[in-house]
Amino acid sequence: MCGIIARVGNGDSVDTLLTGLENLEYRGYDSAGVAVQNGHGIKIHKQSGRVEDLATDLRERQPKGNVGIGHTRWSTHGPPTDENAHPHSTSTTNVAVVHNGVIENYDTLREELQAKGREFTSDTDTEVIPHLMEEYLEETGDSETAFRKAVEELEGSYAVAALVDDEDVVYAARQGSPLVLGQDEEAGEYFLASDVPAFLEYTDEVAFLEDGDVVIARPDDLTVTDLEGNVVEREIERVDWDPEETGKGRYDHFMLKEIDTQPTALSNTIDGRIDPVEGTVDLEDFPDGIFEDVREVQLVACGTSYHAALYGAQSLKQAGVRAEVHRANEYELSSGPIDEQTLVIAVTQSGETADTLGALRRAQDKGASTVTVTNVVGSTAAREADEALFIRAGPEIGVAATKTFSSQAVALSLLAHRLTEDVPDADTRDDVTEYLSALHELPDGISEILDRHKAEELSRKYRDSDAYFFIGRGMANSVAKEGALKFKEITYEHAEGFASGELKHGPLALVTQDTPVFAIFTGDEEQDKKTRKNAEEAQARGAPLVAVAPEGHEAASIADEHLVVPDTHPVWAGLLANVQLQLVSYYAADQLSRPIDKPRNLAKSVTVE
Ligand code: M6R
Repeated sequence: MCGIIARVGNGDSVDTLLTGLENLEYRGYDSAGVAVQNGHGIKIHKQSGRVEDLATDLRERQPKGNVGIGHTRWSTHGPPTDENAHPHSTSTTNVAVVHNGVIENYDTLREELQAKGREFTSDTDTEVIPHLMEEYLEETGDSETAFRKAVEELEGSYAVAALVDDEDVVYAARQGSPLVLGQDEEAGEYFLASDVPAFLEYTDEVAFLEDGDVVIARPDDLTVTDLEGNVVEREIERVDWDPEETGKGRYDHFMLKEIDTQPTALSNTIDGRIDPVEGTVDLEDFPDGIFEDVREVQLVACGTSYHAALYGAQSLKQAGVRAEVHRANEYELSSGPIDEQTLVIAVTQSGETADTLGALRRAQDKGASTVTVTNVVGSTAAREADEALFIRAGPEIGVAATKTFSSQAVALSLLAHRLTEDVPDADTRDDVTEYLSALHELPDGISEILDRHKAEELSRKYRDSDAYFFIGRGMANSVAKEGALKFKEITYEHAEGFASGELKHGPLALVTQDTPVFAIFTGDEEQDKKTRKNAEEAQARGAPLVAVAPEGHEAASIADEHLVVPDTHPVWAGLLANVQLQLVSYYAADQLSRPIDKPRNLAKSVTVE
């Protein structure tokens, strides 16, 4: 967790660092800080609270420095206090360090350093790094060697950047946590950051660094080496993300912007991959026959990605392919036998979720073939899996995943389609033309909802409820779960998602006239009949019923409210229903004045287990 940024160049770094931190704040927002080097020592400014508080403070103090590092924190070791904020240093302020990751052997290192008389002022694992560096600096007199030696002592995961007093240099290294390099060679300017949006306003030339890489960046000069000091080449790529995509534009919140841009995101997901007229799916990197040895599919994911995995897995199950969805953090215990005929699909927006990477690595150790379905090119999952299918949703900044759920569910459904073409005895769809045509029109269906929804009014009506329940069957069950996750995540209200039929096995005890039930109908008659019965059982106990259902659906006639799902194939109806639920969550949270893009205690990318 946490976001780090470093910048070296010929002008002042402070504004660039602050912009970078604002763009990285989705990774953690407990505290923030920067350190700059300006020829008169290292100046550190850090405090608990948001980046905007830090920015206000810095505007008054106006520190300057052409070389600097910055950090925005999601607490793992110690509460969000000024002392625990990064950058960390020593009593001499000879060295300053920012870090994302977890140093697993920090206890031992700290004890050893304390035995040498070193004093610690924070609860963080990170603080061992500046002390180690200073120890080695005193021993060797060479800061690059000191940095390497300090890094060699670390066990666990890190993306780390360091300044040394009186040197126009940033030292950086990565092991298990993301670190991206940005360069504007003409300006002699280099950036290091946890993610591309941090510096996208300044350059689109990036290199995705690898584990074991050490970077020595000076104005006009950059070297990347391995830990032993051998120079390594890292390919510079141009990212085609528009810097505007990383800003809020006319929106109050990234979440609403990201809900609203779903038609474009989804069009990008399917662009060039489906031909509704021919009835074909063409996924680059997945040629005919690639899956012919697969006998079982296991999908691993967390949070919203888990719900997208549940959605996608339904298509595989319906086609008779053995498919199971596992919470990545339980995979070690839940996976059952894995062998070379198992295909493991790691679903992760960020490609950096530690739980999901853990499951992916476990699958690889057991000999499974692996695919990741991810949004982030160059992410750890994209690099470690055998193959990657990119969802192409564009950057998602709001902590609540919205557009990426839709794009993941669609990408997974297309992957499922490709699998059923290869896996022996799988049933391929007999309605493929209708299925793909409806998918082709799905972005328009979303636009229709965005143009004429009544989410604001509806969320006001149910604003004082005790709890909110979401129910659905099959694909609609995964949408019910996702609807509830979104609702609780940003409103802080109690919300639960269930399989429709499960309500009567316990949760019904919670149902009262103050617990609205959102029931999701897809237009699949057989399934909808059962959901309707379960919805009526809740209604009989006084619950207000909100039917999220196609226009003219019979459930609308019994419901207190109807959120309309535009006409589509039942396979895609759940995704349209989900957009309605995203909007309800958003407006409910807005009416409660919640910090929608940065819900308490959470962060966008969870890089700790
Ligand atoms: O980057 P990932 O898709 O691996 O992230 C997984 C979850 O942490 C994420 O979906 C989380 O549940 C979202 N904040 C939900 O909105």
